[in-house]
Formats: sequence, structure tokens, C-alpha cells
Amino acid sequence: MKWTTHIFVLMASALCLGSATSLPEQSLREASQASGLLIGTAVRPAHLSETEYASTLAREFNMVEPEDVLKWETIHPERQAFDFSQGDQVMDFATRHNMKVRGHTLVWHQQNPKWLTEGKYTSTELAQILEQHIKTVVGHYRGKIFAWDVVNEAFDELHPGELRSTIWRDQPGIGLATNGTSYIERCFRWAHEADPQALLFYNEAEAEAVNPKSDAIYAMVRDFRQRGVPIDGVGFQMHVAHQHADVASISANIKRFTALGVQVQITELDVALPVNAQGNARPEDLQLQADIYRQIASVCLAYPGCTAIQTWGFTDKYSWIGSHSKQTQGAALLFDRNYQPKPAYDALRNAVAAGRP
Ligand code: G3I
Repeated sequence: MKWTTHIFVLMASALCLGSATSLPEQSLREASQASGLLIGTAVRPAHLSETEYASTLAREFNMVEPEDVLKWETIHPERQAFDFSQGDQVMDFATRHNMKVRGHTLVWHQQNPKWLTEGKYTSTELAQILEQHIKTVVGHYRGKIFAWDVVNEAFDELHPGELRSTIWRDQPGIGLATNGTSYIERCFRWAHEADPQALLFYNEAEAEAVNPKSDAIYAMVRDFRQRGVPIDGVGFQMHVAHQHADVASISANIKRFTALGVQVQITELDVALPVNAQGNARPEDLQLQADIYRQIASVCLAYPGCTAIQTWGFTDKYSWIGSHSKQTQGAALLFDRNYQPKPAYDALRNAVAAGRP
């Protein structure tokens, strides 16, 4: 390369990248090998045909989780019809690139099809529908999806520590509404019947620190373990807002859950930042964000039972945060909209490369 061309390339890179950093020789995925930590990300199959999306995904991660396409509205569009096509696309990609696949999610109060939510089914009918759904979906991916979020967000935000009122629990529910968490237990047992090898997780938002919600989940998991209900792990979503994560409390929480003998996985990590009309965050916020990614990785690595860190998408081009915050928040992920690594990427990669203490 002539020196003039060289200077041009350097200037162009500086202009395009803004606060992005350059790619290290060792990818995130390679850096995680020493600790055995799984490094995952949520994916949308519609983007897999985009070269940079696919190449970044395959290079940097050893685990994927479909962000939306295993949810009821996509995979079970009619009562008697399942559509696995988009889930299978993710599965094919993962197989080709030697990645593990997490499944998300079998039981949730959102993204359910109208035939279900407006069907006015009795509890007995709903129980049959849910059992058929869990067994069909888990059965389809038997031996392929290694871990499932069986139940997602069953505890309430407004009444911390209490179970959420949902179609599955008490509206009208599957017939166990007066028995606390026993409707959740039933779901885990159905999933286990469909694939006895799959790891079964309970996944939750805003339960990563010690608080009334995580206290309630802790009590449920301890009870399930004592009675032999097949639960293998707890997923903490970790959508970090307000540039603040209470790391000491997160550490204490991971400690108490792993002490129960279950795995903890960080399942939906992102760190939302305020952004301007162009979608850009301030450089100082990108540094704060990097520090949060680093601290969360270090906390997870400190506990052998914390087995995975998964981000909720990997490029700021496609993150749920923008459309769910009227575009006032964003820039939450490891790569910018041009697939350039951000300070958060370096921070996470370096933390993971350092391995477990
Ligand atoms: O399916 C329609 C499509 O037909 C339409 O063209 C398009 C136009 O916007 O919208 C599509 O629906 C979107 C759906 O995802 C499927 O892609 C919705 O608008 C969108 O709001 C929906 O958002 C998802 C959200 O869950 C639903 O609550 C996000 O992508 C997804 O990141 C988010 O993920 C959740 C986890 O499952 C559970 N934990 C919280 C996390 C963030 O909210």
C-alpha cells in the first residue's frame, strides 16, 4: 500500500469509527476458551443474510439464542399449526459455526398469538394447549437446544415478590392458581419429559441483584431442588439502565443461587445509554458502559456456577432498546451500527481473556 493510500485509510477509519476501537487478534469467542465460559448473543434470523451480521456473529460468539422467533406468536401461529422455519434457520447457522443454542421461551405472558389470548379457553383446555406446546417445541429441538428458558418473567414488578397474574397462572391459568409456583413446576416437568438432557432454566428481569423479586425466585428454586423438580439454572436478564449496576449485590445474588447447585447464566445483557437524534452516545458514557460490561463479566467469572454471558443482540444497528424507548436510549451493545467494536467490546473481551480467578 502506498503511504498516501495508507494515510487515507487511517483517516477514513478514524472518521467512520468515532469512538470505536479496532479488532484484537483474538476474538471474544477465542478469549473465552480458557475459562470455558459460554459467550452468547440473541439473534434475528432475518439478518443472517447480511454478510457483516453473519460474519461478526460467527467470529465472536459460541452460543446463540433466537431473540423472538421461538416465542408463541411466531412458532405456534394457529392452534393446530407450528412453524419452526425461522428457529430452524438459527439452528442451521449455529450448527455450521459450532455454536450452542439456548431456547427462549416456552411460557411467557407476552408475544402470544391472538388465537390463544382471545380464545376463552377453560383451565383444562389451557393446560392441554400448554403441555402440547412445550412437548412439541422441546421435542422438535430435542438434542439440539441445550438449554431452555422454560418460564420467563413469572414474578411481578409492581408487587415485588408476588407471582404475576397471567393467562398461564390465573387468567384463567392451567388450574393451579391457588398453589403458588406449582404451575411453573408443571411446565418444568413437561419440558423435562420432552428432552431429559436439556438444561431447564427459569429466566427473569430485574432479579440480578438481591431484592424482593430475587428472594422469591430463590425460595422457589430452593423448594424445586429439595423436591426434585427438574430445574438446572436461573437466567438473569441484566438489562442495565441508568448506567448503574449494583455489582456487590449482583455478586451476592449469584453466590446464593449457585450455592443451591443450579447454574446461573446472564441471558440478556445490554447497557442502555442516552443517545442523540443520530443515535450516538457520549464518549464518556461509552467508557462507563465498558466498565459495567467489565464488572459484570468479572462477577460471573468469579463463580464457577456462572456458566454463560449472553448479550441481547450484538450490533447497535439492531437492538430492541431504540424502538422501546422512542429512540432516546440505545448504543447498548458491543458493536456499533457499522459492526465496529466499542470500548465495551474490549472491556468484555479482556475480562473474559483473564479467565476465572
Ligand atoms: O412481528 C412484527 C412484524 O410483523 C412487524 O413488521 C414488526 C414492525 O415493528 O414488528 C414485529 O414485531 C416485533 C416483535 O418483537 C417481533 O420481532 C415487535 O414490534 C417488537 O416490539 C417485539 O419486541 C421484542 C420484545 O421482546 C417483545 O416484548 C424484542 O425484539 C425483544 O428483544 C424483546 O425481548 C425481551 C425478552 O424476550 C424477554 N426479556 C425482555 C426482552 C426485552 O424486552
